[in-house]
Amino acid sequence: AASTRYEAENSPAVCTGTIDSDWAGYSGSGFCNGTNAVGAYAQLTVNAATSGTATLSVRFANGTTTARPAGLIVNGSTVQTPSFEATGAWSTWTTKTLTVSLNAGSNTIRLDPTTSAGLPNIDYLDV
Ligand code: GCU
Repeated sequence: AASTRYEAENSPAVCTGTIDSDWAGYSGSGFCNGTNAVGAYAQLTVNAATSGTATLSVRFANGTTTARPAGLIVNGSTVQTPSFEATGAWSTWTTKTLTVSLNAGSNTIRLDPTTSAGLPNIDYLDV
């Protein structure tokens, strides 16, 4: 089925940081620039028509030279620990694909950084 886009800057998403628009190439009206800290999360609420396996595509930019790891927390449970690699520039966005199990209906997807660098800049989630 066609995917739905959930922008990190749109309610009810939560960005523990600021919604910025100073780096080109983002979708929508901005992106989540999480605070550079452990636990400075971005959370999106996504809908699934049916329960089961779903593909999440996270669009992000990491203009440093160091990957930024995070817990992937689905409906309160940490299910993976993806690491968001350097993309070369803050204006260079890329997509990471994550496979998760979702409930039918509403689901919370939280990216919870595990180092003091925090998250990369997060643009959206396609589900
Ligand atoms: C820079 C950049 C931000 C980014 C931040 C970071 O300040 O302008 O967009 O979020 O670095 O290291 O996370």
